[in-house]
Amino acid sequence: MTTNDGNGTDRHGGAVAVVGGGLMGSGIVHAFLLAGRRVALVEVDDEAAAGSRQRIRAHLEESARRGRLDEPVEAALSRVVVHSGLAGLEGEDVTLAIEAVPEIASLKLEVLGALEAAVEDAAVVATNTSSIAIGELAAGLARPERFVGLHFFNPVPASLLVEVVVGQDTSATTVERARSLVDAIGKQAVVVRDSPGFATSRLGVLLGLEAIRMLEEGVASPEDIDRAMTLGYKHPVGPLHLTDLVGLDVRLAVADYLRSVLGDRFEAPALLREKVERGELGRKCGKGFFSYPEG
Ligand SMILES: NC(=O)c1ccc[n+]([C@@H]2O[C@H](COP(=O)([O-])OP(=O)(O)OC[C@H]3O[C@@H](n4cnc5c(N)ncnc54)[C@H](O)[C@@H]3O)[C@@H](O)[C@H]2O)c1
Repeated sequence: MTTNDGNGTDRHGGAVAVVGGGLMGSGIVHAFLLAGRRVALVEVDDEAAAGSRQRIRAHLEESARRGRLDEPVEAALSRVVVHSGLAGLEGEDVTLAIEAVPEIASLKLEVLGALEAAVEDAAVVATNTSSIAIGELAAGLARPERFVGLHFFNPVPASLLVEVVVGQDTSATTVERARSLVDAIGKQAVVVRDSPGFATSRLGVLLGLEAIRMLEEGVASPEDIDRAMTLGYKHPVGPLHLTDLVGLDVRLAVADYLRSVLGDRFEAPALLREKVERGELGRKCGKGFFSYPEG
């Protein structure tokens, strides 16, 4: 099967391999199924594989309910094969492989090395990391020119953005293939040079930290700080509510990392640290800057 036209665009598909079918991976699989692609999903064991399949089915059923699926759920599901272990990829005609395992550098290095070896030389290998440098993850790869960051956003079905993160060794052809793949699933790419926090976390975290500092200084109530941004700047969600959704602990970890590499403007406000210490981590535990009695 023709998988690449030599100009760097994937014409006839081939399979997309996704490694890790958790929150993000199952959303990524769903996006490629909606675009008519075949997907080979790799999970750690049969139990995790069954969980992934269930999440993908739920995404497809939701798409069907919203009238966004132009085939029966079972027909779309029939294009995904779930394997327990990377050995399952043998014989699959993979043109794009996306790693979406947990954010642990050593785990990603191990999975990416094995993934690159399991797919054809011409395949693009991508990582969905939200913070680790592409250069660091490329270190163990034989073909770093075909390696790129594809940073999807949560929840994937509702998020249009994909950051294409370009490492020092990523080739221009790989960037073009990544862009056209994002395009083909109806999402929009922004291309970012490999740098701490990429474009999204770097700007988003800064806004969130400043909102917390304003709260500390008594500039306005949490509701009014958020309303200022939603109504005044047309942000769909205010910076404090967004911090609650992401998780205060997650935000603090990213802020600390960005401060270590980009400087004091990412210094976390004391209020953020105090809330994390008190276990007020945001929506996932019912309380952050706002309360979520429903959990
Ligand atoms: N959660 C978010 O909001 C978000 C947003 C953007 C990017 N990300 C990034 O996406 C990646 C995945 O995050 P997530 O939230 O989906 O995590 P998750 O824990 O929901 O899913 C990870 C999945 O990987 C599987 N896994 C672990 N080791 C594996 C292995 N060796 N082989 C195959 N599968 C394996 C696990 O069984 C699990 O299902 C992380 O790098 C994270 O930083 C997360």
